[in-house]
Amino acid sequence: MKIAVIGTGYVGLVTGTCFAESGNDVVCVDIDQKKIERLRNGDVPIYEPGLGELIDRNIASGRLQFTTAVSVAVPPAQLVYLAVGTPMSESGAADLTALWAVVDSIAPYLNENAITVTKSTVPVGTNAQIFSRLKKNLGRDCRVASNPEFLKEGAAIDDFMKPDRVVVGVRSAEDGEILRRLYAPFLRTEKPFLTMSPESAEMTKYVANALLATKISFINEMSRICSAMDANIDDVRRGIGHDSRIGFAFLFPGVGYGGSCFPKDVRALDYLAKSKNVDAQILQAVDRVNGVQKELVPQLIKQHFDNQLAGKKIGIWGLAFKPKTDDIREAPALVLIDRLLDSGCELSVHDPEAMSNVCEKYGDRLNYFDRQLDVLNNADALAIMTEWGEFRTPDYAEMKARMKQAVVFDGRNIFNGEQMRSAGFTYYSIGRPTVDASAS
Ligand SMILES: NC(=O)c1ccc[n+]([C@@H]2O[C@H](COP(=O)([O-])OP(=O)(O)OC[C@H]3O[C@@H](n4cnc5c(N)ncnc54)[C@H](O)[C@@H]3O)[C@@H](O)[C@H]2O)c1
Repeated sequence: MKIAVIGTGYVGLVTGTCFAESGNDVVCVDIDQKKIERLRNGDVPIYEPGLGELIDRNIASGRLQFTTAVSVAVPPAQLVYLAVGTPMSESGAADLTALWAVVDSIAPYLNENAITVTKSTVPVGTNAQIFSRLKKNLGRDCRVASNPEFLKEGAAIDDFMKPDRVVVGVRSAEDGEILRRLYAPFLRTEKPFLTMSPESAEMTKYVANALLATKISFINEMSRICSAMDANIDDVRRGIGHDSRIGFAFLFPGVGYGGSCFPKDVRALDYLAKSKNVDAQILQAVDRVNGVQKELVPQLIKQHFDNQLAGKKIGIWGLAFKPKTDDIREAPALVLIDRLLDSGCELSVHDPEAMSNVCEKYGDRLNYFDRQLDVLNNADALAIMTEWGEFRTPDYAEMKARMKQAVVFDGRNIFNGEQMRSAGFTYYSIGRPTVDASAS
């Protein structure tokens, strides 16, 4: 099939590349000329494991092209995928400025049989609005569908190639059949292809993210109660997770969720509910709890140092909102950085992939290190904000030797308390007993 993908970010680039990999002719479009030039030269502007090789292979085979011109990409396309950002606006609603700009820009070039498919996460009812707007622009009938994306950054290729399910919202069986054929190569293990109305498809995406965010805020709240009660969230987690009704997935306490999806999607769904006079109290609580959780490590650090933070040297491991991505949108590490800078700390940071994005935001207000251990030189404390695999088994003796004070704030519970005690650290983690080196 001939496919145009408009918006070449985390989702559009993966979508376009994976469709090309399964034999389609794909043209990816973006308004960001620099991004398109880099992609044409085989230089991938984001970090996503495995993506670079797939792009190279499909450019070489001629199945994947990049352009800034919808006038090139759209006319031959049977499917026009919309994958632009839908960020959070001031009110909490999804900002659809980019989406409407794209809808208007593709209209003059859409061929009569093309289906415009929304991959971006959009408020319920957007598909119907796209239909009306396109129809008005075109002066004829048109075909629109919704195909929300469930990939996870850091595992995006695998998620796209082997989805748990594919959801499409269509208004005709024929459109559903075309999309089923498109996805057939990805569903060979009998995972379901689910067709429904565009409204239900749009809602499915928000409900999925809202539930995942709810699980995170729930376990985070439980971890704070554990701390107050001298209980250990690790034991509690084991105690509940073996219950087949509960399970272990997505029940890890930490520093709160971030990224480009959960924060904005929880708020956008709350906003949508409000617009229909539904008071979405769980969503509001999930968002509030997440805000509280993002302040936890800054607070623990302030308490530990009796609010005397000016001049303290703090090292930070992990800046991305989660491992295996360079994405720092709404990352909990940014809240920590802001609080510690405001308190006059000197910060040394390391992240395997996200440093250039952080450097763009903070410039020379932070010290950046390519090697994680160098962050610790003469540090009063270390805070761990992202659970990258390479942070998990460090040389504790070397860590301690480099630090001025052996204090670790582990926002992701990647270390073991007993191990930290025997290595001589004062060790704070989430919902687990604090290890006080001076008490042992
Ligand atoms: N990132 C994720 O993990 C994820 C997962 C599932 C769904 N989504 C949803 O997918 C959508 C895209 O997310 P993303 O993370 O890929 O966003 P992104 O910000 O990484 O990428 C968006 C791209 O669209 C481009 N763009 C903006 N306006 C344009 C225009 N007029 N014409 C052409 N290109 C334009 C931008 O330059 C950018 O490259 C969002 O709605 C998001 O909620 C994201």
